[in-house]
Amino acid sequence: MPRNKIKIGSLEINTYVYIPPMAGVTDIAYRKMVRLFDKETLMSTEMVSSKALMYRPDQPVMKLTADEHPVGIQLFGHEVEAMSNAARLAEEQGADFIDINMGCPVPKIVKGKDGAALMKEPDLAVEVAKAVIDSVKIPVTVKMRLGWDSCNKNSPELAKRLEDIGVSAFTVHGRTRAQAYTGSADWEAIKLVKENVSVPVFGNGDVKTPYDAKKLLEISGCDGVAIARATMGAPWLSRQINEYLETGSFSPEPSQMEKLDLAILHVSEMIKLKGEYVGIRESRRHLINYTKGMPNSSKIRGDSGKVTSFEEAKELVERLRRELSLCISNTCNE
Ligand SMILES: Cc1cc2nc3c(=O)[nH]c(=O)nc-3n(C[C@H](O)[C@H](O)[C@H](O)COP(=O)(O)O)c2cc1C
Repeated sequence: MPRNKIKIGSLEINTYVYIPPMAGVTDIAYRKMVRLFDKETLMSTEMVSSKALMYRPDQPVMKLTADEHPVGIQLFGHEVEAMSNAARLAEEQGADFIDINMGCPVPKIVKGKDGAALMKEPDLAVEVAKAVIDSVKIPVTVKMRLGWDSCNKNSPELAKRLEDIGVSAFTVHGRTRAQAYTGSADWEAIKLVKENVSVPVFGNGDVKTPYDAKKLLEISGCDGVAIARATMGAPWLSRQINEYLETGSFSPEPSQMEKLDLAILHVSEMIKLKGEYVGIRESRRHLINYTKGMPNSSKIRGDSGKVTSFEEAKELVERLRRELSLCISNTCNE
C-alpha cells in the first residue's frame, strides 16, 4: 500500500513519522540507525545556535550526509540577522527544510529570549520566521509548545500568523513551557492548532507505540506524528508506526540478540563520527536504551555508564549475549 504523502511546502514526504530534534541524541549516527529500518522517516538535526554560527559557521551538528534525506536543520535564536545567516548556512549544507525552535523550555535558552520564549513575544516570533523564510528557498517549519503556561496557550493564533507569512508546517508538543515534561501531553489541545491552519501539523508528546500514534492522529486530526524519546534505543519504531497506520498491523521489534547487534553498531557509528573518547561517552545512554528490559537491566545500566573504550563496550555486549543465551535456555522470566 503506498504511503500517504505530506507536502511541506516544496518538500513531499512519504511518512507519517517525524523524529524531531533531540539535543545530544539526533546526530548523524542516530539518524543512520533509524534509516536502517525506514529510509523515508522525516528527521532533524539537534538544535543549532544561530548566534554560535555567527562566530563558528562550521558547527559539527550542521553536518548532513548525502544519503540521509529528508532531513532538516533546527535553528534557535531570536536575532534576525543571526537567524537569517544561520538559515543560509543550513540551506548550503543541503537541508531539505529549516525548523525554528519555539519550544525549548530550558532556562538558559528561554532567558536569552530563544526557544519557547518566542511564544511570549509573538511579534518577534513572526519577525524571526519572516527573516528566515526570506533568506532561503527551502521550506521553513516551526516547532512549538501549546504556549508559555496554562494561562497563555496561544499556539493556535501564533501558528496562524506564522502560516500567513509562509511557514510550511508545524510540530506541536502538547505541553506548555511551564510544564516542561511533567503531566501528560494534551492531544486535544493540539487539535486547536490543526484546526486553525491549513499546512501540515505533526502532533507531539508521549507517543510510545503505534497504537498511541494512531490515537494521537484520531484525537488531534494531525497529518503526522512527531516521536522523540520513545525512539531512543528503538530505531525501528517509525517503521512500525508507518506500517500500522497503513495496514493495521506492524512487524515485531527485533529480538533481544538483534538489539545487542544494533547497540554495538550504534556505538561504532558514534565512534566513527566523534572519535573514541567522545563517541564512547555519548554512546553510554544508547547502550542503556537498547538493553532496557533485558535480564539484569539495572546492572547493565551501571556497567554501561562506565565503559570507556570500544573494546569494553564490545565485551559488555558479549557478556550480555552469553547471559541472554543462558536465560533463553533456562527460560528465564526475569
Ligand atoms: C534529550 C532531549 C533533547 C531534546 N532536544 C530538543 C531540541 O534540540 N529541539 C527541540 O525542538 N526539541 C527538543 N526536545 C524535545 C523533543 O523534540 C520532543 O518535543 C519532546 O521530547 C516530546 O516528545 P516525546 O514525548 O515524543 O519525547 C528534546 C527532548 C529530549 C528528551
